[in-house]
Amino acid sequence: MALRVKACVYVALALASVCAWCSVCLCAASPGSSTSLSGLLPPYDELYYRGVRAYFTEDWEKAAEFIELSIATREALLRTRRKCHDECSSAGDEIVPSLEKDKNTLWDLWTLDWIQRRAECIKFCLGRAVTPAGQLPVSLDIEYEFGTRNAYNFLQIAYYKLRKPRKAAAAAYTFFKANPSHLEMRNNIEKYRRMAGVTEDAFEDRERELEKHWEFYDAALTAESSSDWPRAVNSWKECVNETLKQTDECRAQCVVTSQRLPEEIDGMEGVYEKAAALSLSLLACKQACVSLVSMRPGRVSPQEDFLPMQLEHLHIAQYKEGDLKGAVQTLRSLLLFYPKDPESLSNLQIYTESLEGDTESQTTGPSLEISNYVSRALEEKKLLYFGVENLDFKFFDPDLWTPEDIVPESLRESWRAEREQLNAKLKEGEKLLEVDDSGFYAGGPVPLVGVTITMDDETLNGTNRVVLDGVLSQSECDTVIQLANIAASVGDGYKGRRSPHTPHEKFEGLTILKAFKLAQDGLLNQSDAKLLHEAGERARILIHSYFRSHSALYFFYTHLVCRTAIPGHQEGRLDLSHPVHVDNCILEPETRQCWREAPAFTHRDLSAVLYLNDDFEGGELFFTDRDAKTVTARVKPSCGRLVGFTSGPVNPHGVTAVTAGRRCALALWFTTEKLHRDMEREEAEAMFGLEGKEEMEEKEESDSKHAPARSGRSQPSKVRSKERERVSSGKDEL
Ligand SMILES: *[C@@H]1O[C@H](CO)[C@@H](O)[C@H](O)[C@H]1NC(C)=O
Ligand SMILES: *[C@@H]1O[C@H](CO)[C@@H](O)[C@H](O)[C@H]1NC(C)=O
Ligand SMILES: *[C@@H]1O[C@H](CO)[C@@H](O)[C@H](O)[C@H]1NC(C)=O
Repeated sequence: MALRVKACVYVALALASVCAWCSVCLCAASPGSSTSLSGLLPPYDELYYRGVRAYFTEDWEKAAEFIELSIATREALLRTRRKCHDECSSAGDEIVPSLEKDKNTLWDLWTLDWIQRRAECIKFCLGRAVTPAGQLPVSLDIEYEFGTRNAYNFLQIAYYKLRKPRKAAAAAYTFFKANPSHLEMRNNIEKYRRMAGVTEDAFEDRERELEKHWEFYDAALTAESSSDWPRAVNSWKECVNETLKQTDECRAQCVVTSQRLPEEIDGMEGVYEKAAALSLSLLACKQACVSLVSMRPGRVSPQEDFLPMQLEHLHIAQYKEGDLKGAVQTLRSLLLFYPKDPESLSNLQIYTESLEGDTESQTTGPSLEISNYVSRALEEKKLLYFGVENLDFKFFDPDLWTPEDIVPESLRESWRAEREQLNAKLKEGEKLLEVDDSGFYAGGPVPLVGVTITMDDETLNGTNRVVLDGVLSQSECDTVIQLANIAASVGDGYKGRRSPHTPHEKFEGLTILKAFKLAQDGLLNQSDAKLLHEAGERARILIHSYFRSHSALYFFYTHLVCRTAIPGHQEGRLDLSHPVHVDNCILEPETRQCWREAPAFTHRDLSAVLYLNDDFEGGELFFTDRDAKTVTARVKPSCGRLVGFTSGPVNPHGVTAVTAGRRCALALWFTTEKLHRDMEREEAEAMFGLEGKEEMEEKEESDSKHAPARSGRSQPSKVRSKERERVSSGKDEL
């Protein structure tokens, strides 16, 4: 609150004092140039407000001019800060403390001297390039405007009105990249596409510089999916490089930008306490860069474990490419994050054994950049957690890999208590029914002999959920689990990857296509592999009928997944086996919204899990309210039990930790859109002459096939290929 008020006053002052100057200098400034005649950067928020005011008076020329100027000024300001950070990063270093004599006094003086020198350097450096008003922090509103790229939304319309469709197209595209569910902008882009003089290259993302690591990331996944290992290695390397670079860039801004002080600082008494709070907020700002860099524009949450995950992909790609030395180095880097990870350790053994005799590479250490990154992060976290424990500092740790011994025991204790309290509350969770607009209606017949409805909407406290029993016999369950065992044992050199969701479990996955290929190679029993296919078919028929789908139902993806608790990694475990999520949209629990956009699998309509065993601990499926916390129903897996539900926002769900044993299940998703059906399944079916039964139904439905698409479903088809890569890289299973 205080911040906002301050910022408003500041803007008013800036308007009063800078305006006369502005109209002179800005008019004289050449188009696109962000500096004034004095050569100093003006406050970009002030320019932005002028642009927006001009926009609302329909002065499109001025609106475009000032908004462009504010964008350019902001960029120049960020560059200047970075430059000053670099120039001043050694200021004060020449003063060496001599701790011999009076330790405390000297240390104080030395610290103060050091801080002063650095402050002076940065002040001087910024003063050379930025007006005093331009150095002040901007309001949260302005940060939000630029963070969401709303400036480009205004700009787009201004250019459209000015009949500059190419510029409008670029602005629209830049905005859309960060707001992919903005339907209006999507329509606008289509309109621009059809305009004369607008070619494809006009659709340029003007903020691309900030997303380079995502480009490398996507390129790497694409290369992986076509087994182009040399290209995958290159792209992952570039992705790691760029991620580190962006992180540095972000951290540098923390140092030079005025920090928002924690509110509690006003109540603090001691000088040391205040100094500590200030230093801690600087460290917290730097740590937050991990989240910022691993968040795609337009996303509500960062990609977890972003850097370690890249290293994991990289070492596998290097191994596949035949670069064992490289793979060893990358794996050693990865081990810095997860030093005791059993899979990485066993992979390391595989790699080093293959390098037998090559002593030089056997002793190759991790990359210097990564080891610096990790030790720096650990030092910072240690200090931050000390502050949390002793100084009531608030810190949100962005990393999953933080070792437990960094977190003080008392904190872990209180987390555990909180979690238990929450669980207790959730047990009594009130009944909350939601409307499902998916077009499916639970309660249809169950057309397979021996299958019974065990739980329906009412017992499951929700909408469009069902539990059926008797879908597979015990011997069928055993056969399918056996398939998983064999497939894992004949799998690639890196079997049993760490789970993408938790380091406390490993998982093995098997797709129909892989099963059939193994069967073709004589590694799996053919009729057993066919049972895997058949099990999915049974599930499809049951789900199709029970949810009274009026159109054909196609497989979207099928995945046999076993998750095994890693012994010795279960003590005091607080995480879930699979965090709460919705299958076809991105759930934002704070606002209870669910965004139907990539990277969610937006074409999923119905979801199902066919369980194969119950001889493990934990691993319960549970449904929650949209807050992702209030548990509404729990389902215990058992052989032949099928859970089905609609894939949309009425059914957020997760899986509790598997704390002992191995849990195997066949996860299935279905779509009503033929275009998005599982092509891999068809490829597999072709191998053994199993024709999909969906084809026949499809003929009956051909009339309804051209019915208008429901809103949110008209994704361009190229999104599909990306979704597929994510599925096949095992990132989503139940
Ligand atoms: C990554 O960055 C380092 C130094 O910053 C450079 O030497 C290396 O060539 C880069 N690698 C790639 C693949 O760009
Ligand atoms: C494959 O498994 C079936 C039963 O699951 C069995 O009857 C058959 O003999 C097996 N075939 C081979 C070649 O092992
Ligand atoms: C549904 O809610 C009731 C009351 O809260 C609870 O006792 C029951 O276990 C819930 N059903 C399931 C399947 O969890």
